[in-house]
This record gives sequence, C-alpha cells and structure tokens, in this order.
Amino acid sequence: MTVPASARKRARELHAQLHEHNYRYYVLDDPVISDAQYDELLRELQALERHYPELLSTDSPTQRIGAAPLKAFGEVRHEQRMLSLDNAFSDEELADFDRRVRELLEADTVDYAAEPKLDGLAVSLLYRDGVLVRAATRGDGSTGEDVTQNVRTIASVPLKLSGNRIPGTLEVRGEVYLSHQGFAALNAQQQAAGQKIFVNPRNAAAGSLRQLDPAITAQRPLEIYCYGVGLVDGGKLAGTHTGILEQLRGWRLRVYQDVRCVTGLEGCTAYYRDYEQRREQLPFDIDGVVFKVDRLDQQDVLGFVARAPRWAIARKFPAQQRETVVLGIDVQVGRTGALTPVARLEPVFVGGVTVTNATLHNQDEIDRKDVRVGDTVIVRRAGDVIPEVVKVNTGLRKQGARRFHMPDRCPVCGSHVERVEGEAVTRCSGGLYCAAQRKEGIKHFASRKAMDIEGLGDKLVEQLVDAQLVRDVGDLYALSVEQLAGLERMAEKSATNLVDALEKSRDTTLERFIYALGIREVGEATAQILAQQFGNFEALMAADTDTLQSIHDVGPVVAQRIVDFFAEQHNLDVIRKLTAGKSQGGAGLHWPAVKKSAHAPLAGKTFVITGTLSMPRDELKKRLQAAGARVAGSVSKKTDYVVVGDDPGSKYDKAVELGVEVLDEAGCLQLLGE
Ligand code: IVH
Repeated sequence: MTVPASARKRARELHAQLHEHNYRYYVLDDPVISDAQYDELLRELQALERHYPELLSTDSPTQRIGAAPLKAFGEVRHEQRMLSLDNAFSDEELADFDRRVRELLEADTVDYAAEPKLDGLAVSLLYRDGVLVRAATRGDGSTGEDVTQNVRTIASVPLKLSGNRIPGTLEVRGEVYLSHQGFAALNAQQQAAGQKIFVNPRNAAAGSLRQLDPAITAQRPLEIYCYGVGLVDGGKLAGTHTGILEQLRGWRLRVYQDVRCVTGLEGCTAYYRDYEQRREQLPFDIDGVVFKVDRLDQQDVLGFVARAPRWAIARKFPAQQRETVVLGIDVQVGRTGALTPVARLEPVFVGGVTVTNATLHNQDEIDRKDVRVGDTVIVRRAGDVIPEVVKVNTGLRKQGARRFHMPDRCPVCGSHVERVEGEAVTRCSGGLYCAAQRKEGIKHFASRKAMDIEGLGDKLVEQLVDAQLVRDVGDLYALSVEQLAGLERMAEKSATNLVDALEKSRDTTLERFIYALGIREVGEATAQILAQQFGNFEALMAADTDTLQSIHDVGPVVAQRIVDFFAEQHNLDVIRKLTAGKSQGGAGLHWPAVKKSAHAPLAGKTFVITGTLSMPRDELKKRLQAAGARVAGSVSKKTDYVVVGDDPGSKYDKAVELGVEVLDEAGCLQLLGE
C-alpha cells in the first residue's frame, strides 16, 4: 500500500513530538503535557503504523516494548574495552592519586571532572547515525551480553539522538540504576504478586536488565545516567571530558546535572565532602564520587594499567558498618591451598545485604584484632567487597569467649599446613591431593569468565569430586550422561544438558583457557594480555621469566608464578588431557588462532602525533589505540614513534633531538598494516 504524503508527514510530526515529550519527561524531568495527552499522541501514531506498516521503524517511539522473549543473550565483543576504576578509600589515597597524576603530567595542578559514582550496572549503548542499534552489559570488560531489547524499554535512553554533528558511530557508556522510589515501587509490586523481594536497588536493577523477556524489563522503572564514551568514529568530540558530557547532553542523552570541572586536589575534596553530606538526600544510591582528568590529551599521556585508567579514580564513601556476634570461626581452603579463617555471624543487614560470614583473613589479623568466638564485633561491607570484621567491641566481651588457633592440619584433607616465614598465609601442603583445592580449581575452571560451563555449579562440583568421578578438570570431559544421571538430585535431562554444555565449552578462546587454568596471580586481564602477546599457548608454556617480564603489566611475581605453574608435571598432564584430540583420548579443547596483529600489534608502543595529516588527528589516534598503542601528548625518551604531518611543531624537533623514530602518515599506516 502506498503511504499518502499526508500520513507520512503526520507520522514524522508524531515521532518528533513523542520523542520530545519523552525527553522532557524522563531526561529533563520537566513535562509540558499530561500523561493522557501523551497517550493520545502515542495511540495516534500506533494507529497510523498499523494502517501503514511501512511507516514503522526501529527508532519509532512506539517500538520500545514488544520484542519477543529471548532464549539466551547473545555475546557482544566491545569495540573498546569497558574498564573499571581504581578506588581511593581515604583522603590520603586520593592525595596519592593526584600526586601521581601531576608527576606523570609534569603539571602543578590538574583539572578534574567530578561526578557521583552511581551504584547500578554499566552498559554500553551503540548509536549508528544517531540510532540506537545495540546495548550491552559490561561482562568481563571485553565481552558482554547483548541486552538491546531490554535497554530499549528504558525510557530515558533515546532510541534516536538529535542535535548537531552526531558522530556516525558513537558508543556511549553509562550506569543503569533504580531510584529509591523505583526500587520501593518494584518491591511492593513483587510482594503483591508473591514474587521475589530484592535486597537492594543494585541487585534489582541487574536482575531487571538481565531478563530474557523484555516485557518484564519494561515494567521495571530503570533509569540511566551516561558518564562517558567508548568508540567514536566519523565525528569530532570535545577535548575535555566535561565538554564531551555536554555534547552528550546536547544530543539528548541523560547526563547527571551536577558534573563539575574542579581544580586540583582541593576541588576534588570539596566535591567529595559535598556529596558525603548530600548522599542521604539523593534519590538514588551512590557509593562514592569519581574524578577523571578532564583534558583528553592529558588522559592519553596517563594511559591505562591492566583494568583501569590511570587518569581516573573512585573516591569511595566509608563502608557501612554494623554490630553482630561471632557464632564460630570456620576455616576455608581455597584453590591455592590458602587457609582462610571465616567468622560465622549472627545474620546482620549491612551495606545492602544480609551478611552471615565475614573473612578474618589470617591468624595475624585475628591476633591483631583479638577476635574470639562469642565476641560482639563490628562488620563492614562496601559495595561488592567481601564483608570483613573491623574490630571487637571488647566492652561486650563475655566470659569464656574462646580464642582461635589455626589448625596444624588441613580441615579438608588432613595434610600438614605450612606457613612460610614472613608470610601471613597458612597453606595446606596437600596440593592436588586436597579435595578442597581440587574442588575450588574445578569451580574456577567452570566459571562464567573461564570455560563458562553452564550447569556445572558449586554443589555439583562437590558431588563429582566426592563421588570420585572427577579428580581434575581433565576428567570433566570424559563424563557420560549415565554417570551424571546416577548422581543424587540429578535428572537425566540435566545430565544431558551438562554434557552438551561441556561439549560447547570445548570451543573456547585462548584467553579463557589461560584464565581457566587458575594460575596464581593470573586474573582475566592478565590472561588476556598473555593471550595477545604470545598468540599461542605453546609459546606461553615455553616462556622464561625474562620474556614474561618484558611484557608491559607483567611483574616479577606474576612471571615467576607462571613459570612455576608450567614446571609442575601434574599441571602439564592436565593440560595434555585437555588439549589432546579426542582420538587420543583427550578433551579436544580448541580455540581460534589469536591474530596478534588483529589485536594489539602495537601494544606497549607509545606514539606522538604532530602536524596536519590527511585524516583528522583523532582518527589516526583511534586507529593506533585500537592496535594497542598509547598516544601521548608530548615527546620524551619513552616515545617510540613520532608521526609527522605537514607543518610539524616543536615535537618534531624534540623527536630529532632525542633520536626518536619519525614516521610520516603513510609509514604509520603501514605499521598499522593498512
Ligand atoms: S567511569 C574508564 N564514571 O563504576 C572509567 N564509572 O568501578 C570507566 N560507575 O564499571 C568508568 N558511576 O559501572 C565511571 N560516573 C561514573 C560512574 C561509573 C558509576 C561504575 C561503572 C564502572 C564502575 C567502575
């Protein structure tokens, strides 16, 4: 059916009006029409679209809700890693941060963008030509979940941007959260429906965003504040963080109204104090404030460490504390054999959750705090940090409160425990003989960020080890449906699902595999760097400590741990079991070759760009960064290459003076493999 021009025109008008009213209501909090008037406009557009389906587009205001439920979320590889933030828990730690920044920038004082740190969950919104095409959770920073359908239901997320000079590709980062009011309303609704009550707004927001049925998410009053950008292509952004946020606001994204550009440590401290006071009156939870070096050229000079930028810090509020009673002290044995004393507590609600256990770290800590069984203690919990015992209220100590002593034998396997001189940790000497260590190692191997074996939860791992069906992770892949179905509380269907999940996990990535091995000190970020740098597993196995340490971000301790790990015969045996082909009785784990060049061929290299190029300087910068390089603002002995365009400035002279390699644009593109 051809659409009459008048209908097309009316649909356009309605689009514009509805987007505008939506924006006024949800972003500006300043509506100019009533809900009834809004509904009337919406219904008119819906009727038009029903009549002329050709008028329907994904950015239509009618298209927020209505997508079909999913079976599972797809994976999204972030164009640029979603980083996390370092924390400062005291004024001193904040001062240290500012000092480091000033030293690295050789500046007397630095301007910072100051923002509240919302306690929700991070998302990335991808806009192409101003239209929202994808939304993803942070996940492990590199890969997240595709939650586009759900994010579309969040009214303060524009389906379409408006304004001038919107970049062709714009990845926006922000925090999805629930206000106190929204949280209370949701829980009231849940209670009325006899559904689960959420313990805090953050959990409720996370649970709401990870619903497979967007119709459910649509009923949850989620909101967003945008606090930054990821990949930007085909457009120019401001030279400061506050400038960029201003641009985002101009394009109708929701940005917090009180982001301030403050000067120096003094400015930061004043902002922090202000929010410390106002925290209780805010309509949502914040767990601190964030400071980011405002100038982007300075951010570039500072760069990143593995997980977090050097140019930003979260100044956290002091953790919440409550009093409770120590009912007992248990000893847990971890993956690496470390014995950790854990206080069993009278349940207490602190920092947004009910706490029943708190770590006591080690014997020295227990002695220092003099924690005894039966004591009244103060428990602290900050954000997602493990709860800990801060101190004992000795005034309330009862007679007969018992002191605790580490056992001399492992509570799980009975092996002797050892404590290395000068170290605080007590370890079980049982190694892989110790079921606890094996269990923890297997749990880690199966976990979401490692091999991601769906259905292989903690309880099942314990059953498998106890039933002696699995001794090490290499045995997992030999499990049969019959063996599994024979376990208690295991139905045939779940057994089949688990075997399928194991099968699926054979197809993995090098970085997941390295992480899954559970090498001490090798977390996700390090595993990723190792995968990128070595490109293949054999090279990593063969590396000595010098080679390992030559990698940016790998220090002497990590290097030694890796070498030690591969020197153990039983580790090599497990690796062989996992990687050998099925025909040789192995599990046949495999992963795509890591194209070193596709990932970070220029990792660890520092570039400086000067002069006029044929492309915008930002563009080249982004390409270099995508290849793993750091792009700095000034030339020093640490610079590897200076890229010189027309009319170069003093940076060129400096490069020549210091003997830094000089490239023209073509030479640089060649390095980039373009
Ligand atoms: S910036 C490169 N700004 O905190 C820096 N994060 O601990 C990336 N968050 O994953 C984060 N408010 O979910 C930034 N104003 C803010 C924030 C914020 C909350 C969350 C975010 C991030 C986590 C890092």
